[in-house]
Amino acid sequence: MNKIKIAVLPGDGIGREVTETVLPVFDLLNLNFELNMADVGWEFWCQEGNPLPLRTLELIKNSNATLLGAITSKPEKEAQKELAISLTGKNEYVSPVIQLRQKLDLFANVRPCYDIKHQTHRFNFCIIRENTEGLYSGFDFYPINDEIKTIINKNSKYLHMNKTDIACTLRLQTMAGLLRLFEFSFQYAKINELSKVTFADKPNVLRNSGNFARSIFEEVANKYPQIKSEILNVDAVALWMVRKPEQFGVIVAENMFGDILSDLGAGIMGGLGLAPSANVGDTGCYFEPVHGSAPNMLKNKANPCAMFLTVALMLKHLGYTAESEKISNAVTKTLQDKLVATYDLGGNSSTQQMAQAIFCNLKSTTSSRKLISILSTGSEIINGDIIDTNSNICAKKINTLGGNIFQIMQSSDNKQEIKSAIVYLLENSDCILITGGLGPTSDDNTRFALSEVIRSDLIFNDEAWKHIQARLNKFNLSITKNNKQQALFPKHASLIRNHNGTAYGCYIQYFDKHILLIPGPPKECLPMIEEYILPKLAELKFFNKYFSYTWKTLGVIEGEISHTIDNLIERYNLYDKINISYRWNYPYVDIKLSINSMDDNCHDHGLDLFIKEIDILVEDFLISNDQSDAFTVLNKKISWCSDLTFVVIDNVTCGEFQNVVDHRLVSFDKTLDSGYSFSINYNEYFNSNITSLERNNNSNAFVKIMVSGAIKENHIYTHEVEIPNRGSEINLFINAYLAWQLSKFIEQVQMNVKNE
Ligand code: NAI
Ligand code: MG
Repeated sequence: MNKIKIAVLPGDGIGREVTETVLPVFDLLNLNFELNMADVGWEFWCQEGNPLPLRTLELIKNSNATLLGAITSKPEKEAQKELAISLTGKNEYVSPVIQLRQKLDLFANVRPCYDIKHQTHRFNFCIIRENTEGLYSGFDFYPINDEIKTIINKNSKYLHMNKTDIACTLRLQTMAGLLRLFEFSFQYAKINELSKVTFADKPNVLRNSGNFARSIFEEVANKYPQIKSEILNVDAVALWMVRKPEQFGVIVAENMFGDILSDLGAGIMGGLGLAPSANVGDTGCYFEPVHGSAPNMLKNKANPCAMFLTVALMLKHLGYTAESEKISNAVTKTLQDKLVATYDLGGNSSTQQMAQAIFCNLKSTTSSRKLISILSTGSEIINGDIIDTNSNICAKKINTLGGNIFQIMQSSDNKQEIKSAIVYLLENSDCILITGGLGPTSDDNTRFALSEVIRSDLIFNDEAWKHIQARLNKFNLSITKNNKQQALFPKHASLIRNHNGTAYGCYIQYFDKHILLIPGPPKECLPMIEEYILPKLAELKFFNKYFSYTWKTLGVIEGEISHTIDNLIERYNLYDKINISYRWNYPYVDIKLSINSMDDNCHDHGLDLFIKEIDILVEDFLISNDQSDAFTVLNKKISWCSDLTFVVIDNVTCGEFQNVVDHRLVSFDKTLDSGYSFSINYNEYFNSNITSLERNNNSNAFVKIMVSGAIKENHIYTHEVEIPNRGSEINLFINAYLAWQLSKFIEQVQMNVKNE
């Protein structure tokens, strides 16, 4: 697929500011568009005599869409004054906005208008203004000419007047112009699920043209029986937009009526700082906030919301509906949170701060991470009497499947403490798994705590009660009335069966949160996790597509490698997409990277390159990519070379090392006819310490040790092993080094044998 091309025209004043502010949104949403910046605005009028240079127009024509900030226009007199001297008198100023609409024949001006500031979302309508004809079609006369005078003379009242005493504007409407306008309006309603199209006109006064337009409107409306339609007087529409805006879907109007209504719409929405717009034709489109360049506004004051919503409108038009919604939602949340607000919204935040808040909200909605928390209840856990293995095992399983654990908490049996833990976890995660406290005794409080938090009465469940009785009978245990509490579950809970004990668990959906309750004893809890919890979490889409990479390394310095990789992450702009951890797992450093994504695109080219770069960075230190340690890796290799012998020569440790290795590392087995075989008892490499390194004040950074081997006594291969010299500490890691280097050595022999 060809890249979507966007011509970006920042323009003047705050147009430039809000455009620059919004651009990172494309990266953040992973939209691999081609953005081409282009010249437009006052500066280019002054220097070149055209505020919309031809090169810009060419770029626009070759783009899928245009994003415009705002441009400054000034009256002709001032415009001529500011024009470069060499150009004075040669050019006439025509606003780029007008030029674009005419040159690209952008007949529909689209101004969505919705209740973005309030949670009630009371109204959601869109004004579609005709952009090319009507009262603004350019038939605007003063003084009027003879032809117009002839027409006007038909009313005798004007007969005696001079042509210089009259100005006249024609409202031009064509069949083709109205047809495409109405067709566009009904299509817009359909695509955006708006249930009604209102044509705002003035048919009771402009009777003939009104009638003409009405017949075309009705003709188009008939093709959309599922969408309601009406024709209202434009002045009444203005009134009702203020009084009852929720009654409108699409409001369509001719050029001037639409111009006035759409500014009213911006006002109803909450001001120019919030209103986006689009100009659409059959072959082109451009998108801009409704506001102008506000040349007198101080820097970093403008509200960027209109620009964000404009980008959202553009993305929707281009078919990127999900991304468009993410932006609108982020703006909506920012406006409703009111933590940050520009001056026009009653606050004193800057453009940058407002944009930052929107980006933050966008990031939290774009990361598709749904969070799971585990709460283990039981005073015996808090007291340290038993170790909470349930949450550990469960977290690992969830993690492996691509779920995200937010927190693991532990609580005593105290009801109040369980309650506050549940409240906290509900606030901060999407799902809580609670284990323990479902037994028959007075300290089994979990169900009671939960029922109070979610304000749901506990209901006696017959099925659970039958199960409890059957189970107790089976083991000849007496049934007490305390057992009955194990059959109590919140209303609307669905049961989770327990084949290994009396306590059933349950699943409850609480608004948009999910709560899972299971008993604590591992022999009951763990099978329930396998059988019910994990499938349920999968069904609820808690497991994202999951990519994970590991590098087990030896010899790298943790701080150095993490620094280098962190820089890489920044360069690839991957901070929000990946989790990375560095674990100093002596003597190894484990680098673990996971990418959680609902989105296939996440696993894109950039990410592959990023992984390759890490591969190259750690190449010389890599033990394995599958968490195998050096000994496991060596073991796999050894099975290949049953007739290989090794000698380890060491002249650094005064023979100390050689002694140990010769006798312990490699033991020879001459029983095979084919030659020598060996085995390596790596656990026993060293029982004694190498002390010579310290004793001799050996200051080499590395200890070099030669390993050589022979196959059937014919070929000798040697391999130098380099081991960092950390004095006597070398005893702690030398085995791992040796094992790793021996496997490298075997690899090398393997290659040579193959090539022979
Ligand atoms: P304007 O929209 O630039 O500013 C009017 C007033 O609205 C400002 O003084 C400010 O108080 C407020 N305002 C506008 N945008 C805002 C934002 N994002 N955040 C907070 N407050 C905001 O309209 P004005 O003053 O009539 O025109 C100024 C210049 O802009 C003129 O040269 C005009 O030709 C041009 N213009 C360009 C448009 C375009 O590029 N499509 C549209 C309207 C005006
Ligand atoms: Mg206007």
